[in-house]
Amino acid sequence: MKRIVINIGELVGITDSDKRFASGADMQKLNTISDAFLTYENGIIVEFGKMADLGNMSDYEEITDAKGQMVFPAFVDSHTHLVYAGSREIEYIDKIKGLSYEEIAKRGGGILNSAKLLHETSEDELFEQSLPRIYSIMSMGTGAVEIKSGYGLTTNDELKMLRVIRRLNAETPILIKATFLGAHAVPAEFKGRQSDYVKLIIDEMLPKVVDEGLADFVDVFCDKGFFTTDETHDILNAATKLGLKPKIHANELDYSGGIEVGVAHNALSVDHLEYTGNAEIMALLKSETMPTILPGAAFFLGMKYAPARKMIDAGLPVALASDFNPGSSPSGNMQLIASMGCILYKMLPEEVINATTINTAYAMNIADKVGSIAIGKQADFYIAKPMPSYSYLPYSYGDNKVERMFIKGELIRF
Ligand code: NIG
Ligand code: FE
Repeated sequence: MKRIVINIGELVGITDSDKRFASGADMQKLNTISDAFLTYENGIIVEFGKMADLGNMSDYEEITDAKGQMVFPAFVDSHTHLVYAGSREIEYIDKIKGLSYEEIAKRGGGILNSAKLLHETSEDELFEQSLPRIYSIMSMGTGAVEIKSGYGLTTNDELKMLRVIRRLNAETPILIKATFLGAHAVPAEFKGRQSDYVKLIIDEMLPKVVDEGLADFVDVFCDKGFFTTDETHDILNAATKLGLKPKIHANELDYSGGIEVGVAHNALSVDHLEYTGNAEIMALLKSETMPTILPGAAFFLGMKYAPARKMIDAGLPVALASDFNPGSSPSGNMQLIASMGCILYKMLPEEVINATTINTAYAMNIADKVGSIAIGKQADFYIAKPMPSYSYLPYSYGDNKVERMFIKGELIRF
């Protein structure tokens, strides 16, 4: 079916079809067309241009009038843990009272607390709890999302999480990629025997996950107090042999060597990056790995902020994702992440829009399909509420600026 959006005040985020990411000074470039139209067929973008150049409209079976409002490419959220059971606001209060993330984790809170809750929750119930989160992020403009396992920490529970992710992908319009994160924390039963748990991941979990085709990527929480660089190396070695590309948690809590291990394994992305110095920037510059910053987690935990400005000024690309999870970032609102990119990381509106769309698409290996307005990509976009300029999007923080959300050209009904 041929469809068209007409009277677009400004069509934002236009790229060539083969553009895969924006880096360095290029992150400040955001191509737009004012007074524009956008056409798509079978969910794929066919054409866009100036309203003045639009020919015969009788060809289109569906016409959407944007009434002068702006159209943006849908957000791509390349790092979430949005399949989880229950919530952890009790720990939130502990944090307010002064306990650190690591102290909470050591007391059996944190990730292990979510693992316990998840163990007690059936697969169906886990699906039911996660589904509204998917609709919530779509209502705020997200058209594709990566979701990790990692609150299972046993073979059965990790598989349970990944099956829920698969079902969410099948039963909702959003594009989902799944990441196996068995190495998220060491479960209590393996306390003092971390290497046995790593062996379980490599010998049992990974083969089963791959056998069932449940994951696209593999992740390791490579950081102080969690998994070492040697363990990360072993897990990534095993996983890449089985065809899973790495995306890893690195340098959130210390200069952990995580960035370098990720780069050595040609990871799609290394994520968090609060502890990024010159050596890490040099390693990233020589790589094809997308540095991904998670402002929600740094904000929520009151941590230091990754040196985004320094990284971009050194010529690197930067992606921004939500890290939506119950412990360190209980929000999947990418508009808020874009605002944080500007306010906390001194990124420009153009940079945060690129960082939350095309660069996150690259970090999910789907930049050929989504992440910008380009011919041949999916028609994933939203018509924004009336706003004077695209800079208003990150400026007006905390408010939902999405009026109508489309994925593969279909209007999402909430
Ligand atoms: O990305 N850093 C590790 N994992 C998550 C936190 C998960 C949790 O606390 O439940 C993160 O912040
Ligand atoms: Fe995370």
